Amino acid sequence: MGEKTLRAAVVGCRMGAAHAKAIAQLPDYELVAVCDIDEGRAREVASELGIAKPFTSYEEMLRKVELDVVAIATPTAIHAEQTFMAIDAGVKGICCEKPMATNLADARRMVSLCQERKIALIVNHQRRMSKEMVVARKLIEQGVIGEVRLIRMNCGGDFLSDGTHAVDSALWLLGDPEIDWVFGQIELPDRPKTRYGHLVENSSIALFQTVNGERVEIFCGEARERHRAYQDYEVIGTKGRIWRIGDQPLPNLFIQDSKSGSWDAQVVNGILRPAPSEEGLWRPVEVELDEAIGAMKRSYALLAKMVLEGIEEVEHPLSAEKALRGFEVVMAVYESARLHKRVNLPLQQDKFPLDLMI
Ligand SMILES: NC(=O)c1ccc[n+]([C@@H]2O[C@H](COP(=O)([O-])OP(=O)(O)OC[C@H]3O[C@@H](n4cnc5c(N)ncnc54)[C@H](O)[C@@H]3O)[C@@H](O)[C@H]2O)c1
Repeated sequence: MGEKTLRAAVVGCRMGAAHAKAIAQLPDYELVAVCDIDEGRAREVASELGIAKPFTSYEEMLRKVELDVVAIATPTAIHAEQTFMAIDAGVKGICCEKPMATNLADARRMVSLCQERKIALIVNHQRRMSKEMVVARKLIEQGVIGEVRLIRMNCGGDFLSDGTHAVDSALWLLGDPEIDWVFGQIELPDRPKTRYGHLVENSSIALFQTVNGERVEIFCGEARERHRAYQDYEVIGTKGRIWRIGDQPLPNLFIQDSKSGSWDAQVVNGILRPAPSEEGLWRPVEVELDEAIGAMKRSYALLAKMVLEGIEEVEHPLSAEKALRGFEVVMAVYESARLHKRVNLPLQQDKFPLDLMI
């Protein structure tokens, strides 16, 4: 490649501004349009990136501009609908923001339609492409901490918007295993509350188990441990531990391996983090410094390859098939809370369980 070959557009210009920047910096793409119902926002991104005409109607943009790739970064409640519109418009690749939809029926349809029509569909769980998560996965794969028994995760926000990142990261760290069962509990607000166009809870606790017996615990929203950073992941293996202290500046990845000793940690600037000691109980893992949109750029570069070489030829860590597995876990957490039962996968409930509860 080397020439700008794929004509791309972005809809939703807030988080979408980062997508637009990533695309604009890559030789595989030509960013030809942006769209936001907020004209000022669309104009701002367009003028920053030198695009002639910002759109305020997605339907009009799809009709008037010939596109190969669309990035969908609008509120979650319209991801599925806008994905179906892009499919109908004949695009070859779609990057949809996470979470991919608000119910399992839509998410499954997004994946099956794209498979049928050979459209490359990825979901932007960009941590899979971040330098430290790639290193963490490699260390686990190499058996440095033995067999993983438990991943304990903390994150803020609601489970659908933010828990989805934790679930996806757990699946990434474990090598995308099948999930056996899911157990969840949520705390509802006094009055219905929405975010990104869908209902949300105040706090949630999730537990799930893979078919290999690995367990994942997630504490989300107000249930997040007080000093744990957003997206704090602790991976506990039979021979050691890996700790990613959230989306914090480097060093944010630590390891405790064969050496035994006490579990040393302290609160620094309000964040619980390992206290590396002379004995090396927690050692920082060397991770290359990355630019802010580095993970997204690598993801878009791979999406371009997928579009140009074929969806069966190129495996993408952010593929919608992988995202769908995590999305099913997210929906199962709500369904378990609704039924007060542990839920086995595959999940039967294809509506958003919170809609049924409230
Ligand atoms: N991957 C990540 O790290 C990450 C981070 C933040 C947000 N997100 C996801 O990205 C999505 C957007 O998040 P946000 O924080 O930018 O949301 P936001 O609500 O702040 O912004 C959404 C933008 O979409 C525009 N919009 C709404 N409806 C539209 C329509 N029909 N057509 C065109 N534009 C429309 C809005 O005017 C707004 O500018 C959400 O699904 C969120 O979960 C992902």
